[in-house]
Amino acid sequence: MTETADRAPAVEFDHNSEQHSDDPAASYRKLRSEHPVAWTDAHGGYWVLSGYDAVFEAARDDYTFSSARNSYGGEGLSVVIPKTPAAYHIPIEVDPPDFKKWRKLINPITAPAAVARMEKIVKHYVTAFIDDIIETGECDMTSVIGVPAIVTVDWLGLPIEHWKTYAFAFHALLVAVPGTPEFDQAVKVDLPMLEEVTRGVIAERTAEPTDDIISYLVQQEVDGRRVTADEVFAMVDLLLSGGVGTTASLVSNTVVWLYQHQDVRQDLIDHPEKLERALEEFLRFFSPTQALARTSTKDVEFQGVQMHEGDRVLLAWSSANRDPSQFDDPDEIDIERWPNRHTAFGIGAHRCAGSNLGRAMAKELLSQFLSRMGDYVVDVDKLVRYPHQGTNTGWQSIPATFTPGPRVLPADATALGEKG
Ligand code: HEM
Repeated sequence: MTETADRAPAVEFDHNSEQHSDDPAASYRKLRSEHPVAWTDAHGGYWVLSGYDAVFEAARDDYTFSSARNSYGGEGLSVVIPKTPAAYHIPIEVDPPDFKKWRKLINPITAPAAVARMEKIVKHYVTAFIDDIIETGECDMTSVIGVPAIVTVDWLGLPIEHWKTYAFAFHALLVAVPGTPEFDQAVKVDLPMLEEVTRGVIAERTAEPTDDIISYLVQQEVDGRRVTADEVFAMVDLLLSGGVGTTASLVSNTVVWLYQHQDVRQDLIDHPEKLERALEEFLRFFSPTQALARTSTKDVEFQGVQMHEGDRVLLAWSSANRDPSQFDDPDEIDIERWPNRHTAFGIGAHRCAGSNLGRAMAKELLSQFLSRMGDYVVDVDKLVRYPHQGTNTGWQSIPATFTPGPRVLPADATALGEKG
């Protein structure tokens, strides 16, 4: 990036600051009403798009707003600010026209029909995880919210015994503060170890495919040739990173909010058929992936400001989701809101490939929480937030008590055992 002096309007803003984390919705509300497109000098400088129109327009123009890795603003994954030292990811880091051939490989494994085939495994894990705590009458609800991580690891064909390490490391990469022991443990210890494990499984499935997702991926072709082990790793690592934290973030925010709004919780217990539409509203309101970044490929006038080649640009999905020009009473949750054209899964070519799976996991978790431990009481004073809320928001710890209930699976069944 070159000189930043001519970037205007300039604001004091940092989506990774403690001040922003205290109340991201309020922070974006102020920015959106004053400057829906604004420049901040934080993290080497970036444009923040907080208005729905600006986010929508940029997300649909991949030729101007690139997702590809580049050297502007540091090294690492370019779709977050600041860049993070993640492995190269396909297809999120591929711009059109090449993008399409990669996304074509992912679509069949995350399409509604494929996800419908996974319902049994999702249900098994949610049942088993709730079984683990249901007789005790108390738990940290985040222990159950580990389900999306174990489902993703199992679905891909990775060794289940490592699921907690996968969950911790991918979570820490997006929510821990760089320089903290948690971040260092993830980046320096766990991720290199997991990369070895994942690459080992890719090699095994290449030699002898089974029926898991890695086996499917290693057999795919692009441009008339077999995909390489590095390319498969880049897809698997992205699926892990997409699958592990986002749904957990959605469910953790939702269960706390439902405890604080017991009329709505009771309504959903009495009318489980309302859950599907309610889920869209929770997605809009909580926007688990708060904001992702692009890099401008050229000098361009955009929504009244002059951008320059190499400028970093933050697209705040969460802020677009609270824009009153699109949503009536955007700061209220209305579980019957419809239509609900939220941007929680992104917009345009890179729109979330795992949205159907994310929805299925969130729905099963919420419906079992409500039907099996629907009177849960959250110890609000002991809630622990994610360390920063810039990319993902949510609760790291949700201590709760509830009326104990019976197990569903046989007493000797464990989450890692037979999947029913
Ligand atoms: C509530 C759950 C989820 C939310 C809120 C969410 C959010 C998002 C968002 C905002 C994007 C857009 C990225 C961009 O434009 O740069 C995205 C992309 C993606 N997500 Fe999700 N996601 C969720 C669940 C999942 C799950 C469960 C998986 C996989 C198992 C997944 C895999 C992906 C992949 C592969 C992409 C990249 C798509 C591409 O570049 O074409 N996501 N997600």
